[in-house]
Amino acid sequence: MSNLIAMMIHGQKLFSEIMVGDVSHTSCFEVGNASIVGRALLRQLPTNDDGTIDVAVIKRSIQTPNVHNTTTRCLVLENTHNAKGGRVLPLAYLQEVADVCREHNIKMHCDGARIWNAAVALGVEPKELLVHFDTASVCMSKGLGAPLGSVLVGSAEFIGEARRARKMLGGGMRQAGVIAAACLYTLKNLYTRIADDHLMAKTLAEGIAEIGLPVLPVETNIVIWQVNPADRAAFIEKCTERGLKVIAMGPLGNVRAIPHYGNTMEEVKTALEIIRAIVIAE
Ligand SMILES: Cc1ncc(COP(=O)(O)O)c(C=O)c1O
Repeated sequence: MSNLIAMMIHGQKLFSEIMVGDVSHTSCFEVGNASIVGRALLRQLPTNDDGTIDVAVIKRSIQTPNVHNTTTRCLVLENTHNAKGGRVLPLAYLQEVADVCREHNIKMHCDGARIWNAAVALGVEPKELLVHFDTASVCMSKGLGAPLGSVLVGSAEFIGEARRARKMLGGGMRQAGVIAAACLYTLKNLYTRIADDHLMAKTLAEGIAEIGLPVLPVETNIVIWQVNPADRAAFIEKCTERGLKVIAMGPLGNVRAIPHYGNTMEEVKTALEIIRAIVIAE
């Protein structure tokens, strides 16, 4: 809902268009909400393997006011990028994109569901990753491990409007303190250990590569690897039977695993034994 609210507000003028990555969460996994509820056209731009969208592509995709087309009002970037395997957007890239967006009066929104992982990976504060953005959605229930909670951030004026949109969408809550308390707990106590997840993910990926399966580069906590597309469902089922939770990712034979605060390095080794055993038996 927080990404939707941001896109609704940035694209609230009639005939608006929002640029999103073609495999981003906002364009693929939210039932087209910004188009259906927010009435803005989502223009899907090709995403590179590192989670970036070429600055040249962004530039040439900008639609200026014209009787024939919608007008580009917002660009959404996802950091880290889920479908690309938790890749981190470089600071220099963000600066370059921001220069283009400012020049064309285009708002920037960050889907920062995993911004904490990006910050830890780069050794910077999350605010350094968000400095160019007008708004961001950050999530407490991914790397941080809170039971729930996406938080929308922006200027006081923007948040004033966002509260109205949230109310309209049925997201207003009264006794929200109990959620906030859990979120604060994770920020204070679990943020510092995110680097452990990254190490577990790297170890898992290295082990999977040794088994002989193609695996995407790992920068944070997401590991995506390829299995035989024809056997993907069976592979996932066999993992689940043995206690290893993985999910299908994308249209081809990719699967995803995310080591988290409830895991240990021992369990990563067990996961690798499970994967090896399944692959050998095939
Ligand atoms: C990249 C990304 N953005 C946004 C979300 C939405 O999170 P929530 O539904 O908890 O607000 C997710 C959740 O899967 C995600 O992976």
